[in-house]
Amino acid sequence: MNLTPKEIVEYLDKYVISQNDAKKTIALALRTRYRRMQLDSEMQREITPKNILMIGSTGVGKTEISRRLANMMSVPFIKVEASKYTEVGFVGRDVESMVRDLVVNSISIVRTEKEKENQEKIQNYVLNKIVEKLLPPLPESASESKKEDYQRLLQGMETKVESGEMDDKIIEIEIDTNIQVEFADSNLPPEMLKVQESFSKVFAQMSKDEKKKELSVKDAKIMLQAEAVSKLIDANSIHTEALKRAENGGIIFLDEIDKIALSEKSAGRNDPSKEGVQRDLLPIVEGSSITTKYGVINTDHILFIAAGAFHVSKPSDLIPELQGRFPLRVELESLTEDTLYQILTQTKNSLLVQYQALMSVEGMELIFEDDAVKAIAKLAHRANEITEDIGARRLHTVLERILEDISFIADEYKDKEFIITADLVHEKLDTVVDDDDLSRYIL
Ligand SMILES: Nc1ncnc2c1ncn2[C@@H]1O[C@H](COP(=O)(O)OP(=O)(O)OP(=O)(O)O)[C@@H](O)[C@H]1O
Ligand SMILES: [Mg+2]
Repeated sequence: MNLTPKEIVEYLDKYVISQNDAKKTIALALRTRYRRMQLDSEMQREITPKNILMIGSTGVGKTEISRRLANMMSVPFIKVEASKYTEVGFVGRDVESMVRDLVVNSISIVRTEKEKENQEKIQNYVLNKIVEKLLPPLPESASESKKEDYQRLLQGMETKVESGEMDDKIIEIEIDTNIQVEFADSNLPPEMLKVQESFSKVFAQMSKDEKKKELSVKDAKIMLQAEAVSKLIDANSIHTEALKRAENGGIIFLDEIDKIALSEKSAGRNDPSKEGVQRDLLPIVEGSSITTKYGVINTDHILFIAAGAFHVSKPSDLIPELQGRFPLRVELESLTEDTLYQILTQTKNSLLVQYQALMSVEGMELIFEDDAVKAIAKLAHRANEITEDIGARRLHTVLERILEDISFIADEYKDKEFIITADLVHEKLDTVVDDDDLSRYIL
């Protein structure tokens, strides 16, 4: 990950309109981590990341930024909702599990990389195993000419298997039950995972006779692929590398952090769980060692980006220790009519493009006139003003309202175009938007 801050912002610009402060802060934080990794190890230890708190009302792009970051980067990254954790001792997920999730994510990144590196080897392994079944080897005593024929057959068979021509054939293959199936589910604490593992070993022993399995070639390819990976790639080296990457480059996006803040209104009502989650978060954000199934990971250098709307509560409602651990604050702006228009017209795969794509399946060409789009942005903004401000999510409801009927009869417009004009937009929406009660329910 060595994109410059400018390149990161440029990438985000394709999907998220405005919110330049947030983009810049995040881009800088990411670059700082890259810079740190270039320094000597003593310096590296000293430089800890500055965690970020994004504040902005609902529907202005907080989660969207994180989604796009996740796609862009090949660094370990997870997005979690703070509201789904509970204090240790309460029923629910404990906070440490987010770090375990990060490690699992890191492992899958490293594994994919290794699989790519060893792709040829893996494919050969799978191919050999399958061809062996389809074409039993010749006895040693076979004559030279037979061997030559066989070689030709073998090559032919290999191409057939590779091209998928043999996919439906049923073959019997031995499955190596010793292969450790990785449990993607990291929610369990390590002690429980050990129990789970020993169980699975017992089961593997019990099912020894079931080692032979009849499968279609297609399924066998998938089964053998997993076997090849575990035979050819050393799992331990993946785990070590993954831990190291999660430790130094990992990012945890803590969404909905305002949901664990205790607002003044509820101050009288003591909510032990919320505050407990905040306390549990402290050591993780500050830096502590957490045991995972794959080894111990230190959280000192994991970057935390928290986000919340803070409608009801304020950042100052978080316990002070936690506030202090998110020194960088960025505010996201509310969306104006103009930004709404840009969200519709300038983002990659915008809502308009999505609707057009859906309608094209029916053969209808959906066209939005520019005036119509402007009207949509205007009405969405007005609806936000007179009822609740739900940001760009308003565009979803507004567009749904406009296109519902058209979508219903789309099949009648095969090979025809349908033009959305400003008049149509007003016709569908004016009465709704102007009626306070109606718009509360419909939009
Ligand atoms: N600035 C923006 N640029 C482009 N699209 C946006 C922007 N803001 C919001 N959207 C769109 O609006 C929808 C909701 O945005 P998002 O999920 O980011 O909201 P949020 O800020 O996380 O709100 P909440 O606090 O309710 O979680 C998404 O589909 C997103 O594509
Ligand atoms: Mg969100």
